[in-house]
Amino acid sequence: MCGIVSYVGEEPKATRLLLQGLKSLEYRGYDSSGIALLNDTLSVYKNKGKILDLEKSLSTLSDEEREKLDQSICGIGHTRWATHGEPSDINAHPHMDSDGTIAVVHNGIIRNYIKLKKELIYKGYTFKSDTDTEVIANLFSYIRKDLIAKGEYEDFLAMRLLSSRLEGSYALAILLNESVNPNSTQPAKRILLAKHESPLVIGVGQLENFAASDSDTVLQFTDGIIRLADCEFAVISKNTIDIQDFEGNVIKPVIEVLKKNDSLMDKKGYKHFLLKEINEQPTVLSKMLSLIEDSTYENFKLINFNINFAEIEKIYCIACGSAYHSAQALKYILGSWCSLPVDVIVASEFNFQHKLIGERDLVIGVSQSGETADTILALQKAKSAGARLLAITNRPASAINNLCGANTYITPADLEISVASTKAYTSQLMAHYLLALQIATARKAISREFFTDILHNLKTLPVLLDQMLNRANHYKAAAVNFAGYRDFIFLSRGINHTTAMEGALKLKELSYAHASAYPSGELKHGPIAILDENVPVISIAIPSIYPDEQIIYEKIIHNALEAKTRKSPSILLTTDSNQDHVEEFDLVMRIPDIDQLFSPILATIPLQFLAYFIAENLGKDVDQPRNLAKSVTVE
Ligand code: M6R
Repeated sequence: MCGIVSYVGEEPKATRLLLQGLKSLEYRGYDSSGIALLNDTLSVYKNKGKILDLEKSLSTLSDEEREKLDQSICGIGHTRWATHGEPSDINAHPHMDSDGTIAVVHNGIIRNYIKLKKELIYKGYTFKSDTDTEVIANLFSYIRKDLIAKGEYEDFLAMRLLSSRLEGSYALAILLNESVNPNSTQPAKRILLAKHESPLVIGVGQLENFAASDSDTVLQFTDGIIRLADCEFAVISKNTIDIQDFEGNVIKPVIEVLKKNDSLMDKKGYKHFLLKEINEQPTVLSKMLSLIEDSTYENFKLINFNINFAEIEKIYCIACGSAYHSAQALKYILGSWCSLPVDVIVASEFNFQHKLIGERDLVIGVSQSGETADTILALQKAKSAGARLLAITNRPASAINNLCGANTYITPADLEISVASTKAYTSQLMAHYLLALQIATARKAISREFFTDILHNLKTLPVLLDQMLNRANHYKAAAVNFAGYRDFIFLSRGINHTTAMEGALKLKELSYAHASAYPSGELKHGPIAILDENVPVISIAIPSIYPDEQIIYEKIIHNALEAKTRKSPSILLTTDSNQDHVEEFDLVMRIPDIDQLFSPILATIPLQFLAYFIAENLGKDVDQPRNLAKSVTVE
């Protein structure tokens, strides 16, 4: 989703740093970008398309304009993911007020923007774009002029008046042209910031300060970070940082010193971040296993959650997208190990169910970014209903981490740059096994022998996964065969319905082909109608030593063969040594031998490769698929 970057200093490097910052925000997903620079006047440069397009158009500017770019010491930048108005040059940020004295970049949504817009038009303001952000620029302009006329202008007062009129979520960076306020005693080069339900951090430098939507962007430039809390404003100049909350209380800045992450934007020789991230999965999983706080049967602890798991009556998992798929595995695992009921609910649907939640329920939010608006809102509702909260997220100091505090497990997958999730997803799966083990042992639901067996199986996963990465070419060959199809069906049952859903999502996201996942028993209840030679069916069928799960395997094979009789090209995903019925499939993709119960992590890998290679074959933008955002910070 939208990304913000800002710079104010004394060296003429604003343009370069803003463009560099914007590039590190690209992973969030965007459709246009722009910068505003404050010299004697305010100048805005913006474009639909990639940052490369913005750079190209900057390179064609007149000498006079180039001079401005080269001399700038203060500016704001933005990557836009369209919410109000199509992706276009005009709708791209920054937006100015009608008089060209204010430039604003915004991440979030202003719900009452239509009402405000009508009011401002009535007052004589004009609008060029369809965005809610232009309303902020004009509203701030109106408030500012009014305060200046009364001799009362002050940045924080103006921002308080602004926020009192805005309904919705917003992270804002605002530049002001001081020529309209000649009596101002403020440093002319300063940036006004506001944070309300959208991420924003300040970077503290030597005679320069920064702001951005995420700390990793700022960490390229400096190692001192101030995390703005929700409902806080800040005014930064090259050597001052002032913070107040929305009530006008002065907040003392707390500077955290973090490690600079120079390698963040490095593909490490891989063609795409996605490929790099697929290849990082064994390391992430090993790290997770090595970080288990206590791995004894008596006291197993992934981390020391402040929750008595023995008292829990029901678990609700709330999440979106891939995180939602991963949570289906937790449902299956806990159902099988502890007979504990688990409901997995898409976060945006939780609003309608939160009244069912009570004090003996545990609500688990799963989110790679920790900033997904739907998941945050659902967790807030669960909290007010009295439920205990637990979070699994990949981002420390995210909104979800703030909400769940010590009951947050941080998956150590590091920043995922590619929009489509890979290593964060498999780390969520591993987190679910380990959390389930903690819950099952706390409830004394599993025997010591079974516990030992589970841990043994989990410990083999990073090793097997590492071996699988050498099979990339095998999966590539499969992908080439299927790149021309536009519709795919993924089938499985039991725990690997999770894998089928994730495989279908990866294929949709990366290749833009249509793909649907079904529990294979559902095939004959409708979806079978669309099967023919143009619709490949990918069946995930992993044998098991446990009789109940072996029956699941047999039923998947049976359903897969039903699909084949409808002429669908058939792909079987199964284990290395399984020879059962394999000759009946057009193509067999294999994973190392593993029991069905522990197979989702391994079974996901060929499907990640399949989606990647099909997308590559079709020439799609693998790391930044169209229309997608990495963290979806609006409802
Ligand atoms: O950051 P989150 O895990 O909360 O994000 C949830 C979904 O938006 C995310 O998983 C999305 O589906 C990805 N594009 C999957 O590849």
